[in-house]
Order: sequence, then structure tokens, then C-alpha cells
Amino acid sequence: MSTGIVLPSERDASGRSFGSEERALLLEVLESGILFGPNGTKVRAFETEIAALLGTRHARAVSSGSAAVHTALAALDVGPGEEVITTPITDMGAISPILCQGAIPVFADVDPQTLNITANTVAERVSDRTRAIIVTHLFGNPCEMDPIMKLATERNIPVLEDAAQSYLAKYRERYVGTLGQIAAFSLQQTKQITCGEGGFVTTNSEALARRARVWADKGWNYDSEAADHEFLGLNYRMSELQGAVALGQVRKLTAMVENRVRVADVLRRGLADVAGVRPVPVSSHAVATYWRFPLLIDSEVVPGGPAALAGELKSLGVWSTPNYIRYPAFMCRQFRERVTFGQSDHPYSLHGDYPLEDIDDFPGCKTGLASVLVLPWTERHNDTHAAFIADRMTEAVDRLVRDAGQPTGESG
Ligand SMILES: Cc1ncc(COP(=O)(O)O)c(C=O)c1O
Repeated sequence: MSTGIVLPSERDASGRSFGSEERALLLEVLESGILFGPNGTKVRAFETEIAALLGTRHARAVSSGSAAVHTALAALDVGPGEEVITTPITDMGAISPILCQGAIPVFADVDPQTLNITANTVAERVSDRTRAIIVTHLFGNPCEMDPIMKLATERNIPVLEDAAQSYLAKYRERYVGTLGQIAAFSLQQTKQITCGEGGFVTTNSEALARRARVWADKGWNYDSEAADHEFLGLNYRMSELQGAVALGQVRKLTAMVENRVRVADVLRRGLADVAGVRPVPVSSHAVATYWRFPLLIDSEVVPGGPAALAGELKSLGVWSTPNYIRYPAFMCRQFRERVTFGQSDHPYSLHGDYPLEDIDDFPGCKTGLASVLVLPWTERHNDTHAAFIADRMTEAVDRLVRDAGQPTGESG
């Protein structure tokens, strides 16, 4: 049943938007001969424009999203033996920097419907050692921030928003990445805007912005007359080549995100009558910006659940990822066997007898990951693509129900 429709991919030009803007800016950089960010104009212009767009005082560009999380933790001066509460459903690049600071990641369970952490799951993990809370807006769907910020403020714990997947997502009319004390974004290939690799930190705090800049430049402060290596730091600088592409992209960000959101609504409507398939819910006071399009699959209605559905969809020309990262981060070998720095057991040894996580203590994770199916999503998806996906989803579910000899359920 060929329709000739090939869905856009975030991995190549079919789903990405590079054009004359990026080309012209890249050419300017090459012709200037200045590829080094601190001496050029493009990285600085990118910082100014993304900060203005988000409505935050400062943006500090770095070399990746992982570097952005690390820089934000270092700006907060999170240190050895301290605890950082975070989600187990995220990219490892958001967790490893905690360990690299000598701190301990403490995992909070997630809401099984959104796969986001909540104030309740965070509250269960707060201790006297909690030094920061990382709030990840998964798939571009904002966490329920008011109760999280209330808890954090009462306990005087800074909140680091991981907005790597959530450009221009809104919570109560404010962009995510401006709600906590500091935030980290990624510009890696698949994100809403990209320069291949890259990232940045946003904050309204002058002091945190300064620490971020200096830390990501080997502790060296270029802006000071009496420059010195002020404190421990790494080279996480962004180059002018990355800066040029990122600048071209930021100028198109609003239009690209608007398209993601508009077409996501078309797909939502298209899926409304498909039994057992439901888009991840978005709070009525939030706007999700669909890094990817996550669905919850009811295995009682769709035989074989997300894995079987992904198989059928693939045969019908629709790529998807069942169960997202498959298992929570703490089940990776790095955590199960605590493979960190040689045989040192650092940083866990700083903490006495910090226990291994048990999946049974994370019912939200278990349920959420077992039911989620993630569709690729890009700014180049259009109404035809959304209709095609909805049609193929209906067909895939019908086939699974038919093959299992079950009657089709009511729409759900
Ligand atoms: C939520 C989240 N945080 C952090 C990162 C790390 O970003 P990067 O791959 O640019 O290092 C990613 C990247 O996929 C991510 O999705």
C-alpha cells in the first residue's frame, strides 16, 4: 500500500531547516578568519538573541547540552557528596555531569502519564544533603512547575531546568528555561533548533551567568582586566562555526516551533478515535512544543503494546521508538555496578552507604516506560504527514486486534 509519502527525519535535510541564513552566516565566519568564539561575533549574537527571545537576562553558549547541564551545576557550585535530585527518564548527558561534580544523582519517580517528575515524587527524595533539583521537561511537555518551585523555595534548593527538549514550551505563559534559577538547553542534531552539537545555559542571575562563563572557559575570565584562572573549569566553549548555524536557527525558532505545535494538534485530532492510543496529556496551563510526539498505548486494547505496535507501524512506513529509553537510567551498568573513577567508588564513597535503586520503588517509571511509544517529530511535518500517521496508526491497531482475534474496543 504505497502512498509515496516518506516522513521527514530529524537526522537529515528532510526534517531540518538549514538555508540561506545559516549559509551566509557561516560564510561570514570563514571570511573573517575568526573561528574562536570569544574573539568572534556569532556566538555572542546567538547568546543575545536567544536570551531576548526567551525573556531571560543571560544566555551562555557551550559545546553541548551535557556541557550546559555541567556548566549549570558548576555555576551553582554543586560539590562532592551533595545530592542532586533528577529524573531517571532522561539522556545520560544530563546525569553524568552530576557525578563529574562529585555529587550523587538521587532519582525521583515520574508521573506515569507524562513521564515527568512531580513535586510529590521530588518531596520523597529531598534530604538535608539536597543541593539542587533538575527538572526535565520531557518531550517538550512542561513539568507541573508551581508546586515544584514552591517546594524548592521553601527548602531553599535551586532548580535547574533541563530544557534540552522543550524550546519555547510554556508554563503559565512563561517559557520553560526561565522558571528556575538556571536552565540548560541542547543544540544537538535532533533538537527543535540545532548546530550539530552545542548547548547553552540561561539565567536571570548575574552571579550565575558570570560563573557559567568563567567555568566553561577553563576558569579564565576574558572579560576581566586582571584575568586569571579563578577556579577549576573546563573548555566547553562554542566555536564561531557552531555559533553561526545556531544564530541562523534561532531566527527561525518561533516559526519552526509554531509548525511543530500546529501539526501536532492535527495529529492529536487524527488519533482521537484510535482505540488504545492516546497522546501524552498536556496540562491546560501549558504549551508543549513536541521535541517528539509521545503516545501512551493501552496494552489491554492494543495486543502486544508499544513494541508490537512499533513493529506494525514500521511495516506501514512509520518509524517509532517503543518504551523511549527502554529502562530508567539507574538500570544502566554505569549505575548498577557504579562504574565511575577507576576502583575508587567515587563519589558514592563520600556518602557512606548510599543504596542501589530498586525499580519497584519507581512505579511511575515502570508504568510510563512500559506504555510509551515515541514518534519522531520535526518542524517539517505537515498536515499530510499527520493524516498519514493517523491513518497508519488506525491500520496498525486494527491488524494487531485482528491477529489477536479480539473485537476492536471503543475509541479511547
Ligand atoms: C533532556 C536532555 N538533557 C540533556 C541532553 C544532553 O544533550 P547533548 O546530547 O547535546 O549533550 C539531552 C540530549 O539528548 C536531553 O535530551
